[in-house]
Amino acid sequence: MNSGNEKYEKLFSDEISKIEKRLDSLLEKKKPASLYEPCSYILRSGGKHLRPFLVLISAKSVGGRFQDVYNAAVAVEVLHNFTLVHDDIMDNSSLRRGRPTLHKKYDLSTAILAGDSLNALAYAYLLKDCKVNPRQVISSFTNGIIAICEGQGLDKEFERRKNVSIKEYKIMIYKKTAALSEMCCSVGAQISGATPEQIRAVSNYGKNLGMAFQIQDDLLDIMADEKQLGKTVGSDLIEGKKTFLFLLALEKAKGKDRTDLLKVSHQKGIQITEIDKYRDIYLKLGVIKDAEREIMKYTKLALENLSSLPDNDGKNLMNWLANILINRHR
Ligand code: IPE
Ligand code: IPE
Ligand code: MG
Ligand code: MG
Ligand code: MG
Repeated sequence: MNSGNEKYEKLFSDEISKIEKRLDSLLEKKKPASLYEPCSYILRSGGKHLRPFLVLISAKSVGGRFQDVYNAAVAVEVLHNFTLVHDDIMDNSSLRRGRPTLHKKYDLSTAILAGDSLNALAYAYLLKDCKVNPRQVISSFTNGIIAICEGQGLDKEFERRKNVSIKEYKIMIYKKTAALSEMCCSVGAQISGATPEQIRAVSNYGKNLGMAFQIQDDLLDIMADEKQLGKTVGSDLIEGKKTFLFLLALEKAKGKDRTDLLKVSHQKGIQITEIDKYRDIYLKLGVIKDAEREIMKYTKLALENLSSLPDNDGKNLMNWLANILINRHR
């Protein structure tokens, strides 16, 4: 590891600590506790905090300052947590960040309302940093949320569909995941007064990084260690999700493997006891390697998007982040 990397690692962990402190104090003394305790439960459950970091480094890459986008950074993390709370309801998930999901810890209506209030709270924080071009910033933020909802709609629709193409899958993950990382970069740059060309460059970086991120999320869902992941391994197969691995496996499989894969769609998911069998099918068909190649492809595209930006610490951090994400375990 060279000294450049150490410098960026330290900066990352310092900035993440600051974001965590802000998230910690966000809801202090707010009432009613029946609403805000569950909100704090999710906001204080850790997580990688990648999205606020994207806001910060995008700002820096176009010559802006962290301090001018801290509230926007908090806003995207609060928004992200809102989407996770509702996603866990929609995906029947019981584990998140190594703890019971919010709707399991409390109940369904508590989780729905916590999500709603986090969404509104995200706007409240974004507005604090909307000094330069508020219309443009708020519009990007709002369009990001609309895209997430569309993507989540497609994700659920695909559970019931048997003929989803890779092309449709890419549209779905762009909307549910990459649109948010794209928006994080865009907002960080916009608040910092970036040129349209710079905004385009960092947005494309965020988009391609997000595509790689979701394909890797699909990969980790089946290949990760559950303790490290903090989520139930195999949950995508249990829910009958059309992941990159599943769709590619279905394209490649013949005979018994194909019959087994088709069962996932027909029965709307499999039992937890069958996960090992499906992991073996994926390994045998080579779709794990295919997914790794696809993650690399999008990571390279993200890095290429940075070429037009001036050489500075912001750009270096964006470079560093894309490279460390390739080896993530959670
Ligand atoms: C999970 O995001 C949702 C996806 C888009 C795959 P992260 O993996 O960034 O979740 P945390 O915030 O680090 O827990
Ligand atoms: C998450 O996709 C997308 C959003 C939260 C919008 P997943 O459903 O794959 O995320 P995890 O795996 O539950 O974190
Ligand atoms: Mg989901
Ligand atoms: Mg989920
Ligand atoms: Mg997932």
